Formats: sequence, C-alpha cells, structure tokens
Amino acid sequence: MKLLVILLFSGLITGCRGNSSHSLPPKLLLVSFDGFRADYLQNYEFPHLQNFIKEGVLVEHVKNVFITKTFPNHYSIVTGLYEESHGIVANSMYDVITKKHFSDLDDKDPFWWNEAVPIWVTNQLQENRSSAAAMWPGTDVPIHNTTPSYFMNYSSSVSFEERLNNITTWLINSNPPVTFATLYWEEPDASGHKYGPEDKENMYRVLKEIDDLIGELVHKLKVLGLWENLNVIITSDHGMTQCSKDRLINLDRCIDNSSYALIDLTPVAAVLPKINTTEVYNKLKVCSPHMNVYLKEDIPARFHYQHNNRIQPIILVADEGWTIVLNKSLPKCDHGYDNSLSSMHPFLAAHGPAFHKGYKHNTINSVDIYPMMCHILGLKPRPNNGTFGHTKCLLVDQWCINLPEAVGIVIGALLVLTTLTGLIIIMQNRLSVPRPFSRLQLQEDDDDPLIE
Ligand SMILES: *[C@@H]1O[C@H](CO)[C@@H](O)[C@H](O)[C@H]1NC(C)=O
Ligand SMILES: *[C@@H]1O[C@H](CO)[C@@H](O)[C@H](O)[C@H]1NC(C)=O
Ligand SMILES: *[C@@H]1O[C@H](CO)[C@@H](O)[C@H](O)[C@H]1NC(C)=O
Ligand SMILES: *[C@@H]1O[C@H](CO)[C@@H](O)[C@H](O)[C@H]1NC(C)=O
Ligand SMILES: *[C@@H]1O[C@H](CO)[C@@H](O)[C@H](O)[C@H]1NC(C)=O
Ligand SMILES: *[C@@H]1O[C@H](CO)[C@@H](O)[C@H](O)[C@H]1NC(C)=O
Ligand SMILES: *[C@@H]1O[C@H](CO)[C@@H](O)[C@H](O)[C@H]1NC(C)=O
Ligand SMILES: *[C@@H]1O[C@H](CO)[C@@H](O)[C@H](O)[C@H]1NC(C)=O
Ligand SMILES: [Zn+2]
Repeated sequence: MKLLVILLFSGLITGCRGNSSHSLPPKLLLVSFDGFRADYLQNYEFPHLQNFIKEGVLVEHVKNVFITKTFPNHYSIVTGLYEESHGIVANSMYDVITKKHFSDLDDKDPFWWNEAVPIWVTNQLQENRSSAAAMWPGTDVPIHNTTPSYFMNYSSSVSFEERLNNITTWLINSNPPVTFATLYWEEPDASGHKYGPEDKENMYRVLKEIDDLIGELVHKLKVLGLWENLNVIITSDHGMTQCSKDRLINLDRCIDNSSYALIDLTPVAAVLPKINTTEVYNKLKVCSPHMNVYLKEDIPARFHYQHNNRIQPIILVADEGWTIVLNKSLPKCDHGYDNSLSSMHPFLAAHGPAFHKGYKHNTINSVDIYPMMCHILGLKPRPNNGTFGHTKCLLVDQWCINLPEAVGIVIGALLVLTTLTGLIIIMQNRLSVPRPFSRLQLQEDDDDPLIE
C-alpha cells in the first residue's frame, strides 16, 4: 500500500515536471559489445558487469531482429524498426533498381541508411543538443545529411581506451552539450567467430577482457564525475552459435552456380536468380533438410522480413549451427539465424538516474530499446515497431506491474471480495432472523404508494 502511494505520488510529480527541477538535460551513453550472447552472463564470470547490474537493471534476454546480423541489429536498436522498415537488411546487400552494392566495408553511401532516422539525428534536431559517437554502424555516414556532431570514422584499429577517452571528453566539454552518445567494441564477436562460444578456455579469457573494459568504463565515468547523472545502457546486437565441419550445406552440390547470384551466403543466403526463379527455387528446396528455403512472398510473417526491395527473391535460412557454403568454404561459427533462438539473443544492462536499482527483468525486444531511449532523452519517438510499455518496469518514473505482482493483486482482490461477500451473507442472515414481522412491514410499505 505504501509502495502504491509512493508510485502514485512520483507519477504525479513527474507528470508535471517543469524546467526547474531538472536544469540539466538527461544524458545517455549507449554501449554495444558486439556478439555478447545472453547466456555468457550465466556461464562466465563478470565481476565488474555484475556490480554495474547490482546498482542498475538487467534484461536477461533481448529478442533481436531477423536476420541476426551486426549492421541490421545495430540499426534496429537506434531506430526501433524491423529490418524491412529501416532498410539495412543484411551486412551485404544489393539493390536491383539502382544496382548498388553494400557491404560492411563499403557502407558510406547514405542511400542505404536514409529509409530511417536514427536517434542521434533526431536528438540533434532538438535545440541545444548534440550527439557523439565512438563508432556504431551508421554514425560515420551523413544520414539525412546529418552526422553526429562528434564522431569517428570506423576503424577496428582504434583501441577501446581511445574510444572511451574521446567519447567521455565529448560528453563533458561540448556546447551545445552531448546528450546522446554511442560506444562500440568488436568483441566478443570476433573471438566468438574464431573459437566458437563453447570454447570455454578461450572465451573465458576474452570475456574477462570485456569485463575489465566495463570496469574501466565505470571507473572513468566515476573519476570524471559522470557516473551519477549519466544514463548508461550496455547491450549487444546478437549472440553466437557453435559450428562444425559436420554441419555444412554445400550449394554447389545442388545447383549450377551460373544460374543465380549470391548476394549473401550464410547462415541466411540471399539468392538472386538469373533467369528462372522457379527452377532455382526447386533445386534449392531439395538441397538440404537442414535449411528452410523461402520464396520472398512466403517468408514467415514473424520475421518481419519481406517488404523491402533489398530482400532478394529467394532466401535460405540454415538451421542453428549449420553453415551454408560453396565448394571451397569452411564452417564458420556464426550468428544471423532465426531470431527466436535464444543463442542469438543478447542481453541489456542499464544504470543511471532513469533506471531502477537492482531490478531484473526477463525479456524485451530490441526494437523496444528505441522508445525507451527517446523517453529518457525527452524526444518524441518517430513511428517504430517497439512498445514503450515493455520497458516501463526498468524506469523509475513509470508505473509498472509485472506478472507475479499482477497475479498477487488479483488473488488479493479475490480474497477481499470473498471475505466481504461472506460477511454480507452472515449479516443478512443475522438481520433476517430476529425480525419475524419483516414481511408484514414490507407489505405495509408496499401499500404506501397507494395511500399517497
Ligand atoms: C522549458 O524551457 C524551454 C526553453 O527554455 C521552453 O520552451 C519550455 O516551454 C519549458 N518547459 C516547461 C515545462 O516549462
Ligand atoms: C541554448 O544555449 C545557449 C548557451 O548555452 C543559451 O543562451 C540559450 O538560451 C539556449 N537555448 C535554449 C532554447 O535553451
Ligand atoms: C572521415 O573520413 C573522411 C574521408 O576519408 C574525412 O573527410 C573526414 O574528415 C573524416 N572524419 C573524421 C571525423 O575523422
Ligand atoms: C581522440 O582524441 C584525440 C585528442 O583530441 C585525437 O588526437 C584523436 O584523433 C581522437 N581519436 C579518434 C579515433 O578520433
Ligand atoms: C562458379 O564456380 C566456378 C568454379 O569454382 C568459378 O570459377 C566461378 O567463378 C563461379 N561462378 C560464379 C558466378 O560464382
Ligand atoms: C521456369 O522453370 C520451370 C521449372 O523448370 C518451368 O516449368 C517454367 O516454364 C520456366 N519458366 C520460364 C519463364 O522459363
Ligand atoms: C564442386 O565440387 C564438385 C565435386 O568436387 C565438382 O564436381 C564441381 O564442379 C564443383 N563446382 C564448383 C562450382 O566449383
Ligand atoms: C513497423 O513500423 C513502421 C513505421 O511505423 C510501419 O510502417 C511498419 O508497418 C511496422 N511493421 C509492422 C510489422 O508492424
Ligand atoms: Zn555483431
């Protein structure tokens, strides 16, 4: 009851929050450690990250978007859109109309990014606010003619320390102030591909390094006096799954490679037939029991992966842990698979004035992160596929009832109702017993209208 009153009260206060109570605009740092599979948190030790979570919130599984690749998922986090709606549908793309190619190494043409507006652009449209990026796919591209006010050209050779130093300098020193910032790091994805998530020894070492980087991040924010007022989200784009030389699907064994162009290979192949789509489809359809073959129009609705020119006429979706290859390629521990597989999911942790302390939540969708970030920054979200309500339990200024609480409240209410009903019945019985003439009196009453 006390909790309810407090919640109601804080709701009232935040509802009419003016400029006076918060003179500084809220700030948010969004961090991605690429390929941080959700269950690494259960299977390895992360003392620094666990400390971060103890004073903040944890979402154990983030359901990401199909295909579970790096560029598409990073763009979904900052737009709240499924891939078919933001246009970055793979790390390798081809547009049949313009005949343009896109790859993660050749990604600077705004054409590919302009189907959506990322949050760093929207943030800068607000007066007196700027955005900064220590890398994140798209942040070094002028999307709708706008880059973040402060950014780095992508280069994997820039150390974490340099990225961290520069992004914190921008967060402190800039005018107009940087209120939204990103920080991106290539691990543990790179090592996950190399060793596979089941290589305990190597992954232990790599994940310890990640945890140390998180320790550095927190330390730096504390030293600079940013820790208390900055909201920090640490998340990732996707997980990783184990590969094997026994789980290969060789397309060259099924179909002549001159009958189609391969825009993307594995674990979701994008196939552009040269002459006859039906013929290519029929051959691929019977190629392997370990992959699903879809004509574009038959791609399952749950993938939200259909309505875009950059999605090719045929896609092949390998089963978990299988690699699609041509004659000479090797197995690859990978991600990109069906987004309902938990091995593909990342996690999310957050800390700061906007977030509860010590709260754990089961799951949200990666597209829900965008409306939550807009809420924290006080930005009006653009049309998106996320649901703000899914993240309310993480936020201090929101009313939220989670499922166990809701069940408790319903049971409580039923108990109260049952008790009341019981009491009423007992009282009625008591009232009716000592009044033998009640019926007579009633009859008298019944006559009253006639007398009048
Ligand atoms: C806050 O300040 C801005 C500009 O100084 C002003 O436009 C806005 O109306 C103010 N909002 C409130 C709730 O006072
Ligand atoms: C923007 O910042 C400048 C200087 O920091 C200040 O003078 C001006 O009032 C601010 N404008 C708004 C709309 O807040
Ligand atoms: C990024 O690279 C482009 C072209 O190589 C260059 O013109 C630009 O100054 C660079 N921007 C930053 C912020 O380093
Ligand atoms: C980081 O900041 C330093 C100091 O301003 C600068 O020399 C360096 O080029 C920056 N690094 C990147 C990758 O932009
Ligand atoms: C088809 O495979 C042959 C033999 O491996 C190769 O030389 C050729 O470049 C491939 N063609 C296409 C279109 O990939
Ligand atoms: C495409 O191939 C199918 C199956 O081989 C065949 O029935 C059909 O006539 C072909 N269509 C064209 C336009 O060649
Ligand atoms: C793939 O390998 C098979 C068997 O070794 C060979 O017959 C075929 O020509 C190869 N195809 C390509 C495209 O390399
Ligand atoms: C996702 O959001 C966009 C923008 O509002 C909308 O056009 C699209 O239909 C939505 N997709 C789904 C599956 O609801
Ligand atoms: Zn990635």
